[in-house]
Amino acid sequence: MSDLTRNLQVSVLGAGYLGVTHASCLAELGFDVITVDTDIARVKTLSAGELPFSEPGLELLLRRGLATGRLRFSTSYREAARAADVHFICVGTPQHRSSYHADLSQLSSCIATLGPLLESPCLVVGKSTVPVGTAAGLASQLAQLAPAGEAAELAWNPEFLREGSAVEDTLRPDRIVAGVQSRHAEEILRRVYAVPLSAGAPFFATDLATAELTKAAANSFLATKISFINAMSEICEVAGGDVTVLAEILGADPRIGAAFLRPGLGFGGGCLPKDIRAFMARATELGVGDALAFLREVDSINARRRTRMVELTRDLVGGVFPGRTVGVLGIAFKPDSDDIRDSPALEVAAVIHDLGAHVRVYDPVAMPKARRSHAQLEYAESAEAAAREADVLLLLTEWPEFRNLDPGLLGKTVAERKIADGRNTLVPEVWREAGWDYRALGRPMLTVAFAT
Ligand code: UDX
Repeated sequence: MSDLTRNLQVSVLGAGYLGVTHASCLAELGFDVITVDTDIARVKTLSAGELPFSEPGLELLLRRGLATGRLRFSTSYREAARAADVHFICVGTPQHRSSYHADLSQLSSCIATLGPLLESPCLVVGKSTVPVGTAAGLASQLAQLAPAGEAAELAWNPEFLREGSAVEDTLRPDRIVAGVQSRHAEEILRRVYAVPLSAGAPFFATDLATAELTKAAANSFLATKISFINAMSEICEVAGGDVTVLAEILGADPRIGAAFLRPGLGFGGGCLPKDIRAFMARATELGVGDALAFLREVDSINARRRTRMVELTRDLVGGVFPGRTVGVLGIAFKPDSDDIRDSPALEVAAVIHDLGAHVRVYDPVAMPKARRSHAQLEYAESAEAAAREADVLLLLTEWPEFRNLDPGLLGKTVAERKIADGRNTLVPEVWREAGWDYRALGRPMLTVAFAT
């Protein structure tokens, strides 16, 4: 490993979710990595070996990287420019405040700061998710800004990691995409990813535009798959079918596949929702908005899941929210994460609170973040405490610990044995046998019993 990694010094710009994961994994693979962020407090926290967010297995790598001296954090772009010959840009590209477009301001300031400091030949590699065409613009901007001129080359290497399995996805990626403008850039990226490549990860060298598009296309496809099964859920609900059975049967067709076909409350998080919107906005700019018109529907189906869950809850509490207590299990946008960005669970909880119910929530890791942004909700110390005196219980994020809840014991805590399973994660028969009114979107209200 050391032969492959010797002499290649790496910097990671942006110590957010993506940057810290990428930097810690590169240090684990044997590279010397300097990670830069303009947030002094964040740099201090990370330098002390503490993660500012939750991600399984990552803190261990962070601490190991710091202990070996291969990983360090700084606020100085100058230091990064001096130290490294490959610079990975990992800054955020969130949704613009007032439109569907991606907000590229962090990216612009990163290039504006880094560019003038690049005096020797180097490769600047974008990993952030960007609208197609961004990389080409940045490439010429960089060549103008850098004293090294065109020897400061740009490449685009989109990141496909999922929160909750970010370390595994980074160390053992299922594909590596390298949008490059030269063989030299391709060679450097092959050296950076030598370990996963030797383990068999496929490597795709493309032009810049194709590389940018692979990320937008992949996330759009995944979002479409989720909204497809949730659209089927809407049909099942009025036609009397069971969407979970339908999903299982569809998933058994290898051409369709079972992944990302789990019906429920729909997608959220910091990527899928904003990425499909930015993709639509970019397609419209390019004059081909019609090509992605279906994504508007994908987004609407997804939004309806949250509304439907609120309606189902209202039905379960007898049509009125004021005076009712609603217990909520899970507020992270998905399990194994404390990310609450565009979390379907948190939005449902907040809307029900706004409609007058008393909402008491529990989440194994996301509560500290949610407390800061949603102080109006009550936070409980356990699932049992969230259920206390509840008129209805909602399961909104499928944390594994919720699957093991004992419906008999929990039944003694609640005011009414009513549960809405927003993630189709519980076994309905078990809850119904314990006397619960178990409900889920797109599934029959009663367990169907067949004559034997
Ligand atoms: C996503 C992409 O998967 C990843 O490749 C990209 O790099 C970043 O965006 P992430 O946002 O971490 O990753 O979460 P993901 O596992 O994709 O789930 C997104 C949302 O879809 C979650 O809210 C999840 O609960 C929901 N989901 C997922 C479903 O509702 N049904 C499914 O079948 C799968």
